[in-house]
Amino acid sequence: MNTLVTLAPRERSAPPFVDNAPVEIRMARMSDVRALLDLINGYAAEAIMLPRTEFELAENIRDFTVAAVGGDVVGCAALHFYSPATAEVRSLAVAPQWKGHHVGRLLVESVEKEARNYGLASLFAFTYVPAFFSKLGFVEVERGELPLKAWKDCLRCPKFQCCDEIAMIKRL
Ligand SMILES: CC(C)(COP(=O)(O)OP(=O)(O)OC[C@H]1O[C@@H](n2cnc3c(N)ncnc32)[C@H](O)[C@@H]1OP(=O)(O)O)[C@@H](O)C(=O)NCCC(=O)NCCS
Repeated sequence: MNTLVTLAPRERSAPPFVDNAPVEIRMARMSDVRALLDLINGYAAEAIMLPRTEFELAENIRDFTVAAVGGDVVGCAALHFYSPATAEVRSLAVAPQWKGHHVGRLLVESVEKEARNYGLASLFAFTYVPAFFSKLGFVEVERGELPLKAWKDCLRCPKFQCCDEIAMIKRL
């Protein structure tokens, strides 16, 4: 399930990328774990995402799709099952210099395709960026409509008592 698309990277002061670099969307490998840790925990340090450990990433590596440019991981998303009918899009992250170039869209579309292949009825997410998920056809939903098990990660979230994430769902 590998896909190659061509994107122009966003400009930055010391550009490490060439224009029109091909972005590969593929399933993650164990060799991606270090890059995934850096990407996810970079945002976790800003309290935007939940932190992940090396063990968790290795244990759940089959959930992950990555976007890679020239062999470097520039984005990731995970499809995590909760029931025979639904799964969560989680650990979605795009490297800061690649934001705004549809890498996030490509990742969620790939995860959605995977969910459809598994015959799921819906896909959900907890997010601080509802506008991004709206663009991809997700709608806001009452948290109570989502599987209880989906809250297991919340127990170790620093915002457990004051959660401001928005629950969103897409019926497939
Ligand atoms: C949220 C995130 C994954 C989006 O990735 P991205 O590659 O920058 O987004 P895309 O370029 O694919 O955007 C797709 C669409 O959503 C819109 N969009 C993206 N981020 C948005 C935002 N923060 N607010 C409003 N709209 C947004 C884009 O304008 C684009 O619209 P278009 O298709 O009409 O052009 C990325 O900003 C990120 O990694 N953020 C930090 C981590 C995070 O918040 N993860 C989400 C956890 S649920």
